[in-house]
Amino acid sequence: MKTIVIVAHPNLKESRANKTFIDSLSEQSHIDIHNLYQKYPDWNIDVEREHQLLLEYQRIVLLFPFYWYSSPPLLKKWFDDVMVYGWAFGPGGDHLKGKEFIIATTTGGKRKEYQAGGRNWFTISELLRPMQTTIQRCNGTFLPSFVMYNANLADEAQLTIEAGKFLNHIKSPLEAFDM
Ligand SMILES: Cc1cc2nc3c(=O)[nH]c(=O)nc-3n(C[C@H](O)[C@H](O)[C@H](O)COP(=O)(O)O)c2cc1C
Repeated sequence: MKTIVIVAHPNLKESRANKTFIDSLSEQSHIDIHNLYQKYPDWNIDVEREHQLLLEYQRIVLLFPFYWYSSPPLLKKWFDDVMVYGWAFGPGGDHLKGKEFIIATTTGGKRKEYQAGGRNWFTISELLRPMQTTIQRCNGTFLPSFVMYNANLADEAQLTIEAGKFLNHIKSPLEAFDM
């Protein structure tokens, strides 16, 4: 399946987790990488280009570090600019219909902190609801997300293991997701 991984990391040079995930994609012939902060350093998103790009892929993975319970801001702008009336929703807005979306994110927080009564109160699934709703409103198929918790404390071996899990997750066929 043709897959694009849209990366939104403001500081990839300092990244360990997201960088390891991206590196794990290098030998995947059906997976392309689209790095938003690299492509649009001025934040001036080429909407027509993004639309053409999205049309080429059946699966769209959004990879980013979790920042203040959400994504880094350029990804929010990408949603605002790209998911427009008449293209992504509304009359004639059926271009994303049936496309599969997967969110892959890394957190500083531990898994146990993301639950009722935990330090962050809510699960990642709860916190991702605005993105999920947007994707579903635009007729996309929202598949289970991939989360790496406690990313800053992971050693090289753990990063490699998580990168393998990430790769398996984003390559899994639709039927393999136990939803
Ligand atoms: C501005 C900023 C906001 C952050 N907000 C959160 C947060 O809300 N929850 C969390 O668990 N970690 C948060 N973190 C930690 C990052 O998610 C973590 O450093 C990142 O996932 C590690 O991935 P990397 O090695 O690819 O940078 C934040 C970090 C920064 C710089």
